[in-house]
Amino acid sequence: MQPNPSSAPQRIGVPRETLPGEKRVATVPAVVEKLIKLGFKMAVESGAGAAADFSDDAYRAAGAEVIDGAAQLWAASDIVLKVRPPSRDEVALMREGGTLIGFIWPAQNPELMQQLATKNATVLAIDCLPRTLSRAQKMDALTSAAGVSGYRAVIEAAHAFGSYFNGQITAAGKVPPARVFIAGAGVAGLAAIGTAANLGAIVRANDTRAEVADQVRSLGAEFVKVDYDEDGSGGGGYARVMSEGFQAAQRQMYARQAQDADVIITTALVPGKPAPKLITAEMVRNMKPGSVIVDMAAEQGGNCELTVPGEAVVCHGVTIIGYTDLASRLARQSSTLYATNLLRLTEELCKTRDGQAIVNMEDDAIRSLAVIKDGAITWPAPPLKAAPAPAPKAAAAPAPEKKAGHGHGSRAPMSARALTLTVAIAAVLFWCIGAFAPAAFLGHFTVFVLACFIGYMVVWNVTPALHTPLMSVTNAISSIIAIGALVQIAAPEVGMDGRPDGLIRWLAFAALVLTAVNMFGGFAVTRRMLAMFRK
Ligand code: NAI
Repeated sequence: MQPNPSSAPQRIGVPRETLPGEKRVATVPAVVEKLIKLGFKMAVESGAGAAADFSDDAYRAAGAEVIDGAAQLWAASDIVLKVRPPSRDEVALMREGGTLIGFIWPAQNPELMQQLATKNATVLAIDCLPRTLSRAQKMDALTSAAGVSGYRAVIEAAHAFGSYFNGQITAAGKVPPARVFIAGAGVAGLAAIGTAANLGAIVRANDTRAEVADQVRSLGAEFVKVDYDEDGSGGGGYARVMSEGFQAAQRQMYARQAQDADVIITTALVPGKPAPKLITAEMVRNMKPGSVIVDMAAEQGGNCELTVPGEAVVCHGVTIIGYTDLASRLARQSSTLYATNLLRLTEELCKTRDGQAIVNMEDDAIRSLAVIKDGAITWPAPPLKAAPAPAPKAAAAPAPEKKAGHGHGSRAPMSARALTLTVAIAAVLFWCIGAFAPAAFLGHFTVFVLACFIGYMVVWNVTPALHTPLMSVTNAISSIIAIGALVQIAAPEVGMDGRPDGLIRWLAFAALVLTAVNMFGGFAVTRRMLAMFRK
């Protein structure tokens, strides 16, 4: 995507999605206003937002031109924002050398990639975003969609389930809470756990990656472990295919959970592989009649043997929902989140805010997204550069002393020679002080050395609980300073020479005020961080 020669602002166009049943739209009126502030001209196909409850008038009011007909819209747009990969007909409508941003799935759509390349297009596939790159999280449309889908899966389950999710005691009798089991606790699974727990169900979850156990618990669910010692982390936060032994143990555990659960929601995926089959026909047979399974992996083959992708079927009295459009079923919310993700991406492309988008192939995140650049297929992107390795130490240079980090175990052990030298210097220093310093100083010095030792032990043994490690350590230091200052304020008002000395008290008071700012500030920040995770 190069700036056009005239440097006139580029026009971003948003067509109506053509895939049957797709209700989402790639931008929403609130985001149109922000894209215009970036200097772009905006065009939206008439009716593009209708299924997501955004009218043409709302787009007009936001400053977009509403264009009738897909052909006219595509022809008028330098950059097209879409949700679903374009159809063959849509690619035909695309401008020569135009730019397309949306879901492309290049691995699954090699033909589409070739067609787009023949159009000399530049294509940014939002599904190719490197998700572990923290800078790129604001553009992570996969996470946005998975969150919405996880929520909607629970709503679909609650709709199909013939009872309450929360337990109730009524005059007519006691209703136990629903038991929900979630298979796979990635983004969608965690969203489903949170939603089901909020509805009052008893939630259990399992994942092959042990690292998610704490996240599951933090959302109010129980993590059910497979009785087999193997971790499923396959790198980049994703899972890997498990060993036969693990799979057998997992099947046994899932069979027990299936018998107990009223609702099962499966989200398990392994990148580039068919979805693991976790719920067998036998398990479905053993479930209670009226139970519900929502198979969120239906599009990738399904986690349940009996799932029919795109449909809800009833087998052995169990409703098995295999909808593949869960995010689209909450079209307004999904569209708003997606539009915001694309806005963040456009901001990265147009840092000068002059309506000219530039694809900078030197930028890690943009490079990964750019699957076609000016007609050349540039997918797959090279793996992300690892963090720069520390510069090798010059042989002659003295070894720099490694600073203690904000946690245990980050201090390098001293070499035996350096240790001997340090002890020798310290011994000589102490002998000099003992031999020549005045007696009054010696007393203070002893207290000072002991205080340093105790302070060091106290500070570095603080366990970061609610705070981050850095905040925990600074708060521990602040606490020691506060105690010292209180002791000084309470002490008789005399200086070292025995004469009255108010200055020390004032200094102690100032120290107390400053440390209080640090401590209470730390708690305030922690409170705000925790509030982000509360309802
Ligand atoms: P996903 O959709 O590929 O998989 C869903 C879940 O299924 C994963 O948690 C996976 O471990 C689990 N799974 C796979 N095989 C299984 C099996 N046989 N049994 C039980 N569970 C199984 O993953 P998703 O949700 O897209 O993301 C997974 C992870 O990626 C996140 O939890 C996170 O760690 C990482 N991620 C990081 C982001 C970031 O740093 N910004 C953003 C999004 C994801």
